[in-house]
Order: sequence, then structure tokens, then C-alpha cells
Amino acid sequence: MTIYDALSNDHREFERLLDALLAASKADDDSWKSTLDQLRRGLIAHAHAEEAVFYNALRETDQGDGLIGHSYGEHVMAEAEIRTLGGAKLVDANWTSLVEKLRKDLLHHIREEETRVFDAARRAFSDEEATQMGAAFERLKLETAKDGDSMVASTIDLIANLLPPRLTASFRKNTKPGQWRAA
Ligand SMILES: [Fe+2]
Ligand SMILES: [Fe+2]
Repeated sequence: MTIYDALSNDHREFERLLDALLAASKADDDSWKSTLDQLRRGLIAHAHAEEAVFYNALRETDQGDGLIGHSYGEHVMAEAEIRTLGGAKLVDANWTSLVEKLRKDLLHHIREEETRVFDAARRAFSDEEATQMGAAFERLKLETAKDGDSMVASTIDLIANLLPPRLTASFRKNTKPGQWRAA
């Protein structure tokens, strides 16, 4: 599977979950909890593996200018929005409008990724490279999903992905999540 198919498959799943979350936000039961949980875990693992495998590779080419920082900013914003929703479903009308905002922002991000960013990547990578990145993405996503849900691990990933690729490995090695927690 190419990286484009792997990313697009996830995007279709997120669209489905966002529709379900919006419906659940208006319902009078607790069904929103499991949908939000699924969306949060899925999105965080997706965004971090996507940055580490796909955007970092694109940064090594001359096709990524202006696209990478923009996408990273949207990842950070979506992650903050989804964590806000996780706090509680307080005043229903307000919560629904927050879900609508997250949905709008993510649909915009997905559309841009599948057009501008994929177009740039198709100019930069061969078919074989796209398939290798697809496999690396799926593998890393599984690893991130295992323990990537804590705020600290998540922040480390976001920072590591902003560094030049040759500095990323040493940053990760010297910055373990546990070392910032209270003993
Ligand atoms: Fe994506
Ligand atoms: Fe993305």
C-alpha cells in the first residue's frame, strides 16, 4: 500500500467518526465517550506517524516549502481541540459547537493534505518510495498507539518532528517521557 492510500484510509475513518461524534453530541446519552476516545487515539497516532514518516521525508526534498509548517500547525490545533472536548460534555449546545469546529478544521486539513501535499509528494517520491513509506507509517502508528497517548509523549513527538531529521534520533533518545514526571 502506498503512503497516499494508507493516509487516505485513515482520513475516511476520521470523517466517519466525526459524523458519529456530531450526532452523539446532540444525543442524551454517553455514546459520545467511546467515539471521542476512538477519534482521539486514532488522530494522535496518525498525526505523529504522518509527521515522522511522511512530512520528514518531504522536508528532505525541495517540494515541501510552506506546506510542512502549515500542516504541523493544524495538527497541534486539532490535538488541542480534541483534548478540550475530552474534559467533559458540559453545556450541550457549546459542546456541539466545539465538535462542529473540530470537524470543520479537520475536514479542511484532510482536503488540503490530499490535494496540495499529496501533489507535492508525488513530484518528490517514486512509487517504490511511496510504498516503503506506507509500510513505515503503518508500523510507526502501531508503536505510537501503544504509549503515545500521554501528553508528555505526545509533546516529545511534536517537538522531535520539528527538528532537522539528523537531530531527531538523539533528541528522542535523550528525552524519555518518564524523566519529566514526578518521582
Ligand atoms: Fe493525515
Ligand atoms: Fe495531517
